[in-house]
Amino acid sequence: MSQENILKIENLVMHFGGIKALNDVTFDIKRGSVSALIGPNGAGKTTVFNCITGFYKATGGNIMLSANGKETSVIKVLGEAFRLTDFFSPIAFFQRLKYKMFGGSHLVNRAGLSRTFQNIRLFKEMSVVENLLVAQHMRVNRNLLGGILNTKAYKQAESDALERAFYWLGVVDLVDFANRLAGELSYGQQRRLEIARAMCTNPEIVCLDEPAAGLNPSETEALTKMIRVLRDEHNTTVLLIEHDMGMVMDISDYIVVLDHGEVIAEGGPDDIKTNPKVIAAYLGAEEGEEMTL
Ligand SMILES: Nc1ncnc2c1ncn2[C@@H]1O[C@H](COP(=O)(O)OP(=O)(O)O)[C@@H](O)[C@H]1O
Ligand SMILES: [Mg+2]
Repeated sequence: MSQENILKIENLVMHFGGIKALNDVTFDIKRGSVSALIGPNGAGKTTVFNCITGFYKATGGNIMLSANGKETSVIKVLGEAFRLTDFFSPIAFFQRLKYKMFGGSHLVNRAGLSRTFQNIRLFKEMSVVENLLVAQHMRVNRNLLGGILNTKAYKQAESDALERAFYWLGVVDLVDFANRLAGELSYGQQRRLEIARAMCTNPEIVCLDEPAAGLNPSETEALTKMIRVLRDEHNTTVLLIEHDMGMVMDISDYIVVLDHGEVIAEGGPDDIKTNPKVIAAYLGAEEGEEMTL
């Protein structure tokens, strides 16, 4: 895999019982790009995200992530089903047990990828800054003994985490809300907090699932600027799912179009806008989903 691509998705297949949500999806994401995954409702966009981020284990295919100085096979990192022989190998047994208990998202996160959710998933009963600390704790393996003894390394890690949390609160303009409960924030603020939460784990690539959904035009404009800052000032690759075509065409270096679980087109915004297959897919979509070009 070349250094040029941060993510390589090959022949990805995802079945839910009889439903074939993804059927042989192949595309690459260039390092340092803002790329968009678009397509009508039900096309399979969120499912692609769920497979990439380790939320689901794909039925078939390959997902290679090139980040943190190494190549990670996302599907492999998620581990395999229990086998009888695991009971004789304590390491394999505990690895698989851990995966069963915690899922695989934190492992993919450690490999350099983070995400936000289409339906906001914050700890609403925790404060804004606590949400950012929890995200970092889930990623870094803290030594329990270090915590009890309150070692120097442990204190340093805690103060680094707090510093990083406030840094990202500054970027998303939420410093004044640090001690408010996440559930008390406005919808737009919660969306920004999710981005801060994804960023404070230092990802090389961040996947945003419909970040502009429910935002007003000025919030969308601010979001667009923020995404450019992630790319240009933090060297972060951004992959987003978005329905706001104005925003997608404005911000994306590259666009992949999904329909019925297959890639029907990919290219730059100008190619995609005029692609007959893309126009047909959107015209065939439900009311309110047409692509306004
Ligand atoms: N957990 C699941 N169980 C069963 N079917 C699912 C699940 N997640 C998604 N699907 C199905 O996969 C298809 C693609 O869904 P999704 O990826 O959410 O589409 P999009 O994000 O493009 O709107 C849909 O038919 C949806 O019903
Ligand atoms: Mg979706």
